[in-house]
Amino acid sequence: MDYQTILATICAEVQPLLSQGKVATYIPQLAKVSPRHFGMAVYCLDGQTFSVGDADQKFSLQSVTKLFALALAFSREGDTIWSRVGREPSGSPFNSLVQLEYERGKPRNPFINAGALVITDILSSRFVQSDIAILQFVRMIADQPNIDFDATVAQSERETAHRNYAIAHLMKDFGNLHNPVKTVIDSYCRQCSITMSCAELAKAGSFLAQHGTVPWSGAQILGASSSKRLNALMLTCGTYDAAGDFAYRVGLPAKSGVGGGILALVPGELAVAVWSPGLDATGNSLAGTYALERFTTLTARSIF
Ligand code: DON
Repeated sequence: MDYQTILATICAEVQPLLSQGKVATYIPQLAKVSPRHFGMAVYCLDGQTFSVGDADQKFSLQSVTKLFALALAFSREGDTIWSRVGREPSGSPFNSLVQLEYERGKPRNPFINAGALVITDILSSRFVQSDIAILQFVRMIADQPNIDFDATVAQSERETAHRNYAIAHLMKDFGNLHNPVKTVIDSYCRQCSITMSCAELAKAGSFLAQHGTVPWSGAQILGASSSKRLNALMLTCGTYDAAGDFAYRVGLPAKSGVGGGILALVPGELAVAVWSPGLDATGNSLAGTYALERFTTLTARSIF
């Protein structure tokens, strides 16, 4: 498959879309990024890599880190995590509080903010600092020791994290947050501020395309069954209340973030990461989603 030509085609096709998305503004530091960026990278399980555009430029991973936090928590705690967080799509925006009250503080899934805060709480009980544990995990699976937090983004989010504080306090009241609210929010904001390039992100995610095993090192992060389960969660919940539409258009398990990044997997073949900071109304990268839609069309690769 000539992935390089396909990426170049997609890069040309998305240019008119780059002015249509809106960068996230509720975290002021993210509002400073130009929506005109576009990068895309493919990491094949045999080690071949392909990239186009701004694929080597670092961006704020934001909610894409929820996938790595979940993988770390699932690898350490196993199925016990499901007593604290569900596995159903929410059908609500990623930062919504509405269901939490009805459902007595148990978030629908680990990829909405409420669920991610529970995962951070679980990791905070297990590690001295959950954010450092996630950073080290990500450095290991990306094979890149230079991956780091962006302290300015983390501080910017901390100062405006009113909704996340509200979510955390509500869950604390229901007994579903074991550590202090401030500890969990601080760790979560640092975790979300991790920066990576598309090339690094595709490599970092590749273990989930290879049944839980890191392709280049053979290290087993998750068993094949657990990896299948995380892929299923990505498909049903990884792009928030747009997960149905994303599955319809793209047909791959994926995880997005408000920094404009999306990681998607073709199980058994490759991981693909895309970055374009302009978002659609659901908080997913507008050009990034289109790029992945074109990728599965042009390569005839999807899980369906
Ligand atoms: O908690 C927040 O709102 C951000 N740190 C992350 C949100 C996010 O990326 C959701 N994405 N679409």
